[in-house]
Amino acid sequence: MALRKIVSLEDPILRRKANKVADFGNNLQKLVDDMVETMLDAPGVGLAAPQVAVSQRLLVVRLPDDEESQKEYGKESGVLYVLANPEIIKASKDMVEGVEACLSIPGFFGRVDRHESVTIKAQDRHGKPIRIKASGWLARVFQHEIDHLNGQLYIDIASEIWKAAPEEEADEVPPLAE
Ligand code: NI
Repeated sequence: MALRKIVSLEDPILRRKANKVADFGNNLQKLVDDMVETMLDAPGVGLAAPQVAVSQRLLVVRLPDDEESQKEYGKESGVLYVLANPEIIKASKDMVEGVEACLSIPGFFGRVDRHESVTIKAQDRHGKPIRIKASGWLARVFQHEIDHLNGQLYIDIASEIWKAAPEEEADEVPPLAE
């Protein structure tokens, strides 16, 4: 496994619609492992392949598993999700407002409306079809990452964007950044 460089806002790859994952061979397995390592190291709760300069429809997500997160997110905390070619096939009418950050836009936060719950059809890292129902923060992270695969960033849809205070940058960005 190896850490990969997370590209930032200026990189045009973040604005491209990523290509469908077609080959689930060794290169993809290595990419998945590297993305997981890079996400945990950042640290962040989600990472999409374009953020490590690979234009593939692939994302990894893992909510933290510290005691507080376990209380709040129960069995979802600490679960590693690897999704190839994800598609939202059902989304709640209910929208919820929440605060997001992005590993490709360090030092900023934004207020974003997301569907409260979504059902996602995808493939696992070996190409096997999977279906996931998510709500709350997990649903928010999936929506943020799927947007990355379509060249969209949270700052495009945020109702408000602000710069993190220096102490926030140190303490609060990590658990939220995607
Ligand atoms: Ni992001």
